[in-house]
Amino acid sequence: MTALPITQLTPPDDRIELGIGQPDPALLPAALFESNHVDTQNLAYGFEAGDGRFRESLAAWLGRHYSVQVAPESLMITNGSSNALDMICTRLGQTNKTVLVEDPTYFIARRQLADHGFTVTAVPMDDGGVDLAALERLIHTHRPAFFYTIPTFHNPTGITQSDERRAALVRLGRETGCPIVADEVYPLLHFNDRTPPPLASYDERATVFSVGSFSKILAPGLRLGWIQGTPATLEHLLEGALLASGGGLAPVTSSLVRPLIEDGRLESYLDLLRETYRKRLTVLADSLTEHLDGRLEFTIPGGGYFLWGRWTEASDTAQRLPRARELGVGFLPGDRFSDSPEQARCLRLCFAFYNETQLAEAGRRLGQVFG
Ligand SMILES: Cc1ncc(COP(=O)(O)O)c(C=O)c1O
Repeated sequence: MTALPITQLTPPDDRIELGIGQPDPALLPAALFESNHVDTQNLAYGFEAGDGRFRESLAAWLGRHYSVQVAPESLMITNGSSNALDMICTRLGQTNKTVLVEDPTYFIARRQLADHGFTVTAVPMDDGGVDLAALERLIHTHRPAFFYTIPTFHNPTGITQSDERRAALVRLGRETGCPIVADEVYPLLHFNDRTPPPLASYDERATVFSVGSFSKILAPGLRLGWIQGTPATLEHLLEGALLASGGGLAPVTSSLVRPLIEDGRLESYLDLLRETYRKRLTVLADSLTEHLDGRLEFTIPGGGYFLWGRWTEASDTAQRLPRARELGVGFLPGDRFSDSPEQARCLRLCFAFYNETQLAEAGRRLGQVFG
């Protein structure tokens, strides 16, 4: 027994904290790892792009999901999406120090970009994702190092860019020479139809990095993810001194996860997650509808982790946090994801972490907070 913390998060006892964007600990699949063993070869420094066998299994699996061809050579293994973004920042930020992001965007990505010294400029979104005309103007003005986007079950808005919007975005990237970094950690958590393919699958002539992760489809403690891009695009990342010194990332973890991909256990687990989250979302949305009576506008996302609400009163949701705490409920206010006053009226609610009973109760308490 240790008095030191083991995990990043200790959920509060006195509050249903819907600001937590992590998997429910009760759903983490320890049993899946009981019989797995580590391959001796994976105890050596790994190949820079990752274990070839793992890349082959992952490529075949992704290809089946998205109904597109994914070549193993188009994948490099990372320690999750955050690590992938960090490596991309290191390698692409050597000259230009401006990055474009969506408004709003994932709040920790904003911090990561700031850590790398980037000036971050936000591009407006509409109901279908980033506003491409505004993006085009800003690309011409700033000539950014890259555009960071979350095309599927966007964090925080839940929006998914349509197939047409994705194709147009990639075309814009190709025509302007602006690299695109697509943070695609949620697309496999779709509740109904399958989602469109990763942005990196659209046009090999564009520079697109599609970043994937096992954090939300298996377990974040694995620190395992990937970047999809053309071999030429990935080359620039693979040449970095980090991989030359330390070898490819996550060789041991890759050898633990590969059997789960190959024998279908990952697939069954993912089915369970989809079903569980789909029900949780319904419960939360129903409770909000019942208790907020239109004071919070929202669109039901087709998957992912988050429901994004817009408070119909024209003031910042952050002002209501102290009251929410008193009433035993939490949320992330819109100002965490954006500097624009319009987004400050919004709030992000995660439906993945708590069970249905807790989510129903959270909706009731939010009704009091915004009542
Ligand atoms: C959009 C987005 N990117 C990245 C992450 C973190 O992913 P990883 O655990 O793979 O670093 C999250 C987790 O909340 C996320 O929502």
